[in-house]
Amino acid sequence: MPATKKTDNHHLADKVMMRIKNSPWPNNRPLKVLDCFGGKGAVWSSVKKISGKSVERTPIDKRIDLMQFHIHGDNSRILTELDLSDYDVIDLDAYGIPADQIDIVINSNFNGVVFVTAIQTIHGALPHKIIDDLKFPESIKESAPSLVARRGWDYLKEWLFFMGVKKIIHRSKNRKHYFCFTVNDAAAREAD
Ligand SMILES: C[S@@+](CC[C@H](N)C(=O)[O-])C[C@H]1O[C@@H](n2cnc3c(N)ncnc32)[C@H](O)[C@@H]1O
Repeated sequence: MPATKKTDNHHLADKVMMRIKNSPWPNNRPLKVLDCFGGKGAVWSSVKKISGKSVERTPIDKRIDLMQFHIHGDNSRILTELDLSDYDVIDLDAYGIPADQIDIVINSNFNGVVFVTAIQTIHGALPHKIIDDLKFPESIKESAPSLVARRGWDYLKEWLFFMGVKKIIHRSKNRKHYFCFTVNDAAAREAD
């Protein structure tokens, strides 16, 4: 299947186990999740079902055909309008590479765990923000875009480090990357 094909929950089991193992589960209240690419909520409904734990999920989505309750609109805008310190988890289960959203979350007052799905397109192009922040020479951008694409995961990790992320837990399959990291001082459990 080409990496650009939009399948809402390819590798659902991987996403679910990563969230069960690495969410900062509170002892005496539900886990508060801001689900920025909410879709139909399949990931967190499986997390709840399999873990048996309590989750209070706030979904965002820009789809106009979505019947489930959600905050409607572009998540980059909504992320800048909400008080992110209200949440334990921010979920960025994107179709592409959600660099702008990662940037907003890291530079906010959020304190917790961020889960990310980052999928390189079939051509492997990286978002402008990453290319610009890593200061690729113009010659490489123009003459060797496929080199940038081939090393996409390395560059994405380099960019996360540049953004201040010191440790990630991840699973990668071809050009699909599932990972999580903590922002500020919340403690994430080590994955196997
Ligand atoms: C991979 S699916 C998410 C699946 C979802 N996590 C679940 O558990 O069912 C991505 C969703 O993000 C939404 N989306 C994509 N870009 C968005 C944006 N900029 N703002 C808000 N929603 C967006 C799409 O409409 C789609 O429903």
